[in-house]
Amino acid sequence: MDIIVVGGGGREHAIIKKLRENSEIDKIYALPGNGGIAQEAQCVDISATDIDGIVDFAIAHNIGFAVVAPDDPLVMGAVDRLHGAGIPCFGPSANAAIIEGSKAFAKELMKENNIPTAAYDVFDSFEAAVEYVRSGKFPIVIKADGLALGKGVVIANTFTEAEEAIRSAMVDGKFGKSGSRIVIEEFLTGNEVSVLAFTDGKSIIPLVPSMDHKRALDGDKGLNTGGMGAIAPNPYYTEEIAEECMNRIFMPTVKAMNALGREFKGCLYFGLMITSDGPKVIEYNCRFGDPETQAVLPLLKTDLFTIMRAVEDERLEEVKVELSDRSSCCLVLASDGYPLAYEKGNEITIGDISQKDVYVFHAGTKQKDGRIVTSGGRVIGVTAIRDTLAEAITAAYDAAEHICFENKYSRRDIGESALSAIKNRGAL
Ligand code: AMP
Ligand code: GLY
Repeated sequence: MDIIVVGGGGREHAIIKKLRENSEIDKIYALPGNGGIAQEAQCVDISATDIDGIVDFAIAHNIGFAVVAPDDPLVMGAVDRLHGAGIPCFGPSANAAIIEGSKAFAKELMKENNIPTAAYDVFDSFEAAVEYVRSGKFPIVIKADGLALGKGVVIANTFTEAEEAIRSAMVDGKFGKSGSRIVIEEFLTGNEVSVLAFTDGKSIIPLVPSMDHKRALDGDKGLNTGGMGAIAPNPYYTEEIAEECMNRIFMPTVKAMNALGREFKGCLYFGLMITSDGPKVIEYNCRFGDPETQAVLPLLKTDLFTIMRAVEDERLEEVKVELSDRSSCCLVLASDGYPLAYEKGNEITIGDISQKDVYVFHAGTKQKDGRIVTSGGRVIGVTAIRDTLAEAITAAYDAAEHICFENKYSRRDIGESALSAIKNRGAL
């Protein structure tokens, strides 16, 4: 069978690598893919948001299955359109992808169903939002309602910062239409956990819990990014918390979506804060997270394509999903300057990385005149799987030494806070 994977980042590279383990798949087309994906799939120059182009391509090439990975095409209804053309897919339809596409929708869903989350209000008017923060408690969190490339969240420490964030979203249109409505919510403290889970709308199966590192600089300083690295498992996610999440968050979310006629099928991502009052939802994503997927998929022992088809056919409960008990570290190599301005077009050389269980996932790379050059802020993710987290971290950093490009930048402390947590486990 020939399949398509829509998207072109490190996440999609990790997905394609995993799908390659299935012998029923013949050809994989990546739309648009990237410089590294080109080594294991045929890249096609169709953007992930060109829904007409994707559907036309799938029909013309007799595609048997489609995996839609990024948020934009999901929210725009790519899966609905592909289904309309008779093509089975992995990913939610637009009416379920709204769980990520509108933060106001997600917050109301949680409120109505007693799913723990930060207290909040939704605003359509600049004046009312500013009035609200005038009497608010700081820090306070301001979020654009719609998709904003992971940049729509501001944690404001003062009234002035809050007003500026509201103005830039609602008046200056920094996020376009996505920011004309905003959510203002309580600031939560605790430890963050990302849980990616397969669901077919009936059952839900979480993958190994992970920890993203969102800030650009060591010590969780600097600007928010798409993610500078991830480790798994996340030591803060104890079995007790996992059970609480399943009962109070995961299953209630699946049921609440069904009750609204918005059955979610695909990968549902829970961004959680483990607070002193228990786990609370910070955000839902309607897709695999990035870079978390690069850390977590290599720990999936069960065939990914088997799971994806079972999700589509609503028979996930028949599949026994097995997870490795090893540890994973994904280190993101970025272009210096990311998430602001950075250079593109620098040649990348990758030396001998032949250690077992080390993966090089390309993100912002492209092929040019037979060479691989940088084309994005996050360039490559290097993942190492080892028996312990400490070994995985060392192996990922060692392998990264063999990848060179001008202005390469990475954090030096990926996984360190998780290691300290493991050392202090008694105190957790
Ligand atoms: P998001 O784009 O929703 O993932 O938010 C980006 C980051 O902002 C999260 O990973 C958190 O670190 C932080 N954040 C979002 N909402 C809150 C909140 N209510 N309290 C504390 N931190 C938050
Ligand atoms: N790493 C967070 C996300 O994918 O949204």
